[in-house]
Amino acid sequence: MINITIDGHVGSGKSTLAKGIAKALNFKTFDTGAVYRSLACAFREKYTEVNEENINEFIKDIKVQIKFENDLQHVIVDGEDFTPYIRTEEISMLSSVISPYQVLRDKVTTLQRDFARVYNCVVEGRDIGTIVLPDADVKFFITADEKVRAKRRFEQIKDKKDSPSFEEILKDLRERDYKDEHRAVAPLKPANDAIIIDTSDMSLEETIDRCVNIIKEKVSLN
Ligand code: DC
Repeated sequence: MINITIDGHVGSGKSTLAKGIAKALNFKTFDTGAVYRSLACAFREKYTEVNEENINEFIKDIKVQIKFENDLQHVIVDGEDFTPYIRTEEISMLSSVISPYQVLRDKVTTLQRDFARVYNCVVEGRDIGTIVLPDADVKFFITADEKVRAKRRFEQIKDKKDSPSFEEILKDLRERDYKDEHRAVAPLKPANDAIIIDTSDMSLEETIDRCVNIIKEKVSLN
């Protein structure tokens, strides 16, 4: 199977890019952040405090499945689909607090590797090129200036009720970048063989085209 990995900073547009590449190549996408987010929702239903004991108990017998409905990815945790609830600010923060726990990452890593074994796919997250799929065919590391990323996010949500200010979004983004890059387990960093793409001055279409061309140069798609 052909495996493409996309890692990168919060709000760098990894998910949209992954979908664009997958559409161009007729591959599947795997948004691995959605798994950590769904686990955060399930965790919050049972526990009020994040600590090693609670995480160990939570993850021990949990069953996580990935399903696609009309190409939309759903993560099912012990039979429950949290998809409508995973994009809130609270769950963004909680997922970044629970994701450094190794036992939890081991569970998600197994799921990701099983997926990549059976599909030509674009898998996006933080540690995909470095840890989850070190032998992937092409690895991208996507970034953009933090203010550009905050502005893009602000533009996406500014008309929604109670949407955060630009400054709040920037602060949250910095905090989450810091957590991702400085955690002891699976920190965010480019794999040695990753191609780094800074999208600060690039449109989504340009970024998709650049990535698809690189993939076509490196991989035989027939
Ligand atoms: O990409 P995202 O914002 O949806 O990810 C949600 C959280 O999950 C984020 O705080 C980092 C974590 N995450 C991770 O640790 N490893 C991944 N491969 C993907 C996401």
